[in-house]
Amino acid sequence: MEDAAQSQSTPNAAFTPRVFSGIQPSGGLTLGNYLGAIRRFVDMQESGVQTIYCVVDMHAITVWQEPQALLRQTRELTAGYIAAGLDPEKSILFNQSQVAEHAQLAWIFNCVVRMGWMKRMTQFKDKAGKNAEEASLGLFGYPALMAADILAYHATHVPVGEDQKQHLELTRNTAAKFNHDYGVDFFPMTEPVIEGTATRVMSLRDGSKKMSKSDPSDASRINMTDDADTIARKIRKARTDPDPLPSEDKGLEDRAEARNLVNIYAALSDATVEDVLRDVGGKQFSEFKPMLADLAVAKLAPISKEMARLMEQPDEIDRVLGRGANRAREIAAPILHRTYDIVGMLRST
Ligand code: TYM
Repeated sequence: MEDAAQSQSTPNAAFTPRVFSGIQPSGGLTLGNYLGAIRRFVDMQESGVQTIYCVVDMHAITVWQEPQALLRQTRELTAGYIAAGLDPEKSILFNQSQVAEHAQLAWIFNCVVRMGWMKRMTQFKDKAGKNAEEASLGLFGYPALMAADILAYHATHVPVGEDQKQHLELTRNTAAKFNHDYGVDFFPMTEPVIEGTATRVMSLRDGSKKMSKSDPSDASRINMTDDADTIARKIRKARTDPDPLPSEDKGLEDRAEARNLVNIYAALSDATVEDVLRDVGGKQFSEFKPMLADLAVAKLAPISKEMARLMEQPDEIDRVLGRGANRAREIAAPILHRTYDIVGMLRST
């Protein structure tokens, strides 16, 4: 797959830099979503480039969602975006299902992407588990819709956590195969942006597993809506080993849980792991955990308070998403039209 993307020579310089990313409203927001994605979204918004952030409700329903819960979570994720610093005037914020171009382009990509590529997607294997026959077709085709999300805007950069790397490779391969098959230089080779100390925040209960909103154990994650006591309790109970913290990075080798807590501390305090270890090296977890809890509460409490305030005005959230969808459509519609022309689909003008 990699080869197809690399051999494609579409010069990205020909595309205006544009950032796109999305989060599923399939549960509450976690600290992993915040550190791995949303904070990066805000940085990119502030860098002055055009930024488009989506609440991917069509991806969410690839596994069962209670309708009322989906609605609430769509609004809550939007509130999280805004509370964490995304400004609907600067960034385009909208929910995916309001912009039909995503589904329309996804169909075309369903006809470009190969079954073999999809079968190699580790996220499908993880999510479908042993019961793949019972998984929805949407879950299997999920990465083609993701490619459509990104390429409907000719996005050049996509900030994500580590777990999305394979999906972004598939996006590049989809663009490359489309360009190759139709003999065009139409879709860009989108760059994943996976940077910082928190690209893979791990479970608080098991340092080998990603922190996830779908983990059955609530103690495994910090939710953006957790109150101060809950955050402190979860960090106090986080699994660790009996040794004190090392003063150098290499002392964290083979200590997944310790590394995770240090990474979280570094990300929350905008410091490097080296800086943090210089300060806390030699301390026991009994001393470090309260420091981490205080820091997490100081950073997260204002966001969850603002989310709760915004959730009291659901009409305002819906207006933001509606306006964002109109702006998104203005970019995606002409790109879809040109795609249809390339494919040879007749449309009356
Ligand atoms: P989702 O909803 O699972 O996660 C949203 C974002 O949060 C990041 N993330 C993490 N980062 C660090 N540590 C963690 N423990 C952690 N958990 C989640 C994810 O990497 C992601 O960036 N397929 C995507 C949604 C999507 C999308 C897109 C993303 C749909 N279309 C187009 C980018 C562009 C997903 O399931 O993310």
